[in-house]
This record gives sequence, structure tokens and C-alpha cells, in this order.
Amino acid sequence: MYLEIFAILLTTLFVWDYLRHRRHNRMYAAAGIRGPRSYPFVGTAPTLFKESPKTVFSLQSRLMAQYGKNVKMQMIGESGFTTADPKMIEAIMSSQQTIQKNNLYGLLVNWLGDGLLISKGKKWFRRRKIITPAFHFKILEDFVEVFDQQSAIMAQQLYDRADGKTVINMFPVACLCALDIITETAMGVKVNAQLQPQFPYVQSVTTASTMLAERFMNPLQRVDGIMKLLYPKLFAKLNDSVKTMHNFTDSVITERRDLLQKSIAENADANAALFNEVGQKRRMALLDVLLQSTIDGAPLSNEDIREEVDTFMFEGHDTTTSSIAFTCYLLARHPEVQARVFQEVCDVLGDDKSAPVNMQLLGELKYLECVIKESLRLYPSVPLIGRHITHDIVLDGKLIPAKSDVILFIYHAQRDPEYFSEPDKFLPERFSMERKGEIHPFAYTPFSAGPRNCIGQKFAMLEMKSTISKLIRHFELLPLGQEVELVMNVILRSSTGINCGLKPRVY
Ligand code: HEM
Repeated sequence: MYLEIFAILLTTLFVWDYLRHRRHNRMYAAAGIRGPRSYPFVGTAPTLFKESPKTVFSLQSRLMAQYGKNVKMQMIGESGFTTADPKMIEAIMSSQQTIQKNNLYGLLVNWLGDGLLISKGKKWFRRRKIITPAFHFKILEDFVEVFDQQSAIMAQQLYDRADGKTVINMFPVACLCALDIITETAMGVKVNAQLQPQFPYVQSVTTASTMLAERFMNPLQRVDGIMKLLYPKLFAKLNDSVKTMHNFTDSVITERRDLLQKSIAENADANAALFNEVGQKRRMALLDVLLQSTIDGAPLSNEDIREEVDTFMFEGHDTTTSSIAFTCYLLARHPEVQARVFQEVCDVLGDDKSAPVNMQLLGELKYLECVIKESLRLYPSVPLIGRHITHDIVLDGKLIPAKSDVILFIYHAQRDPEYFSEPDKFLPERFSMERKGEIHPFAYTPFSAGPRNCIGQKFAMLEMKSTISKLIRHFELLPLGQEVELVMNVILRSSTGINCGLKPRVY
């Protein structure tokens, strides 16, 4: 009797699974999108059993060699495809109808709530509209001072190890500097991460970022309930970190709101909040723009603001960290490129290492910009992104079924030999003015593109130019330490460190 019930249940499940995927399978076959063999319930998951964060990139290369640039994938509960085809990437990134994120982003919800990175529909659209002015040229111009001051602290802190022999992993170094920068610009407060890395908020951000990276790749940590059961201590640690971060952000928001209201009450003028007690202009933080914004006439609540500030904190520090570290790594291993960057930096910024930079001077560092762009091509901080297709839609001439999950492999598109000659070589000249227009805009998308692109890309470029030019003014970068071994951990990292050596420059 029990056996019969079990057999009926199993058959029902098989039929349900078959029917569930039948439409998808037919439509993908008609669209010519193929992939590894799919099994009942588990789909193509067996292909991934032996894989790890280290082999994500080689697995995708192998699959592409076998099935082409669009590869059908079917996981438990999810069905869709991966793409590294710039034409398909263009169709997805430029359409307003394919801007919803897939459920991988769900892991970030505890920390970021429903902030700009994750939110969808009307909420995303309205928030994007009010947040865009926070990245206005005038506001960024004031941030350059913060980039410059924090980069100077980073350089000073490095002198201890700059003996030409010590291997330095640039990731943690750049990370603390990027954290100082984003906290001061997003919230208007200094946490001095570089000088006091033990500060609880700093510890929590680094702990949560590292743990999220692990969760992202470890299926046993994906679901809250399962992680709580299997890794109770880790789960509690993650929650504690999130709590510490939320408490800190909440207290800063309350303080800044009070300050704003007090200034308005005293001066009947919101702009008065932009001046400090001695009448000097106070630097606007991203959070101040949010405090003064309204949607349908109503101000944003503290919780609304917190999710956006937390999103800036998350999106705005690991990404730039990764890029600064990989650029140092490449410069150390390409002395001829480094010599040219150094020459440009001396020509534009002069011989005084401590002379401050400004937006206009950073704008003149054209070759450094090519170097950073080429570094982001080879080592994109965000190597892949996910989208969820909510309804049947034709993309690049293919009819894609509703409820498809898509992973866009930015990393592979940016190394596609059809679009880049000598794709694995570091050749900053690709981005020179003389060669403008040669690169297909959707073969190169380190900041994504279209309506859901990175809102902080100008901020990021200024920060990277500021930090890297500061390092180059102080040090010669040397090719020391192990080579990078790429791992996909939310952002692009290296399991062997992102290493170089440093030697003080005498001039
Ligand atoms: C090298 C540095 C950076 C890179 C490579 C980068 C890359 C990206 C990419 C690829 C996306 C799209 C993500 C997706 O669709 O899932 C994105 C979105 C976003 N980025 Fe960045 N980012 C960088 C720095 C920053 C900074 C400094 C900030 C803020 C200060 C920032 C804020 C955001 C936000 C809020 C979004 C979500 C935008 C939306 O969905 O409307 N990013 N970034």
C-alpha cells in the first residue's frame, strides 16, 4: 500500500516536472539555444557538482565551446540560459522589459532591503529618478577632496612595507581605503577604517561582504533555514553584522535628519543645512540628497533611506576595491605601461606628491583612464549579472519564454576574440581617443548598460583615478608575489591575493 502511494507520488512529481519544463524546452529548442543534458528535478545541476567559485569561468568557457555563446541551463526551480553574446547582452540590457533581477540577489536582502540594486517595477523607477541627482557633477566635484585625502592615508600606511621585497596583497589595502571613501561620501561621517580597522561598523561591513561571497557560491548556505541549521554560528555572526550595520546607518540618518530640520527651523531655508557653524560650505553626502527628496510630495522614511545608503555601501566599496587592486597588479607586471602612467601623472599633477588633485586634473589623466578601462575589461569587478524574464519576449531574434532566468557573462564577452584582438593581452591603447568607436558597446559593459546601468560609474572612475595616481606618485609597483587565480565571489577576487611589491619613488 505505502509503496503504491509512493509510486503515485513520484509519478505525479515526474509528470509535474516534465509539464513545467515542457514549454521552456520546446521554446529553447526552437530558439536554437542548447545546453548540457537535463535530468528530472535537478535539471542541468549535475554539470555543476564538481565546480567551485574558482572554476565558474572555465566551466562557462567549456560550455560555450560546446554549445555556443548562449547556453541553456536548468536548475532546481529555475530555468533559463547564460549568455556571453554581445548581441543578446545588448537586447537584454537595453530593454525596459528585462530589468528585473533574478533570485540570486535575494541573498543581499537582509542587508540591503529593497534598495536600488534589487528593487523592481515602479519602486525602482521612482527611486532611480530621485537618486540620479545625488551623482551630479557638482556633488562629485566635492567628493574628490575625500578621494584625495583617503588615498594619501593609504599611501602613508604603505611606506612600512614598501621595501621592494615585501609581497603586498593590494585587495585588503584598497578595501579599507574604499570603505573610508564610501562612508564619508555616502553618509558624511568618517569611520577611519584605514587607521582603526577594528571599528565595529568597519568590521561588520568586511565580515558581511566576505560571508555573503561565501553564501553566494555555497549551495548549503543559500537558504536561510538550511544555513541556520547547518552553520548556526556563521548564520548568527552574519545577522549580528547586519544588525550592527543597520544600527550605525540608522543613527547617522537620524542625526543628519535632525541637523537638516534644525537648520530649516532656524533659517527657514533648507540650503542653510549646507553650511556649518562657521558659515563654511558643508559637503553634501549622498544621504543628504535623499533626505531632501520626495516621492509624490512625501519625504522618504528613515528605512527607505537606509536601504539606499546600505546599497551604496555595498555596491560602492568592494567593486572599486577589486578594480584598484587588479589595476595595481597589471601595472606592476607591465613596466612600460606603468612608466607612461607615471609620466602622465608627473606632467599633469607636478612633482609635489602631496599637492591635492581636483576634478579637472583627474579629467586630464587620459592614459590612466585607458589603463583602468582595460583593467576592467580583463578583470571586471562585476563579472556576471542576473536577470529574470517575466513574460515571453523576442531577444536578438529569439523567442524567450516567460519565467526564464538569465546570467549575463560580462567577463566572457569582454574577452571574446570576435570583438577584441589578442583578447587576453593588457593593451590600454584599445581605449585611446584615436580608436574611439572600435569597441562594440555591449561587448564591453563593466558598469552594465542601459536603464539598469551602474549609477555610480563616474564616482567610481574618479575614485580609481585618484587612488591609483596617488599610489603611482609615491611608489614604483613591482611584480612580486603569486599570480592571480580568479574566483567569483559576488565580485571578482583572487584566491592567491592580488599581489605586488612597492618601492618609494625618489624625485
Ligand atoms: C569599479 C567600480 C564599479 C563597478 C565595476 C560597478 C559595476 C556595476 C554593475 C555591473 C552594476 C549592474 C548590476 C546588476 O545589474 O546587477 C552596478 C549597479 C549599481 N551600482 Fe555600481 N559599480 C561600481 C561602483 C559603484 C559605486 C562607487 C557606486 C555608488 C557609490 C555604485 C552603485 C551602484 C548602484 C546603486 C547600482 C544599482 C543601479 C540600479 O539597479 O539602478 N557602483 N554597478
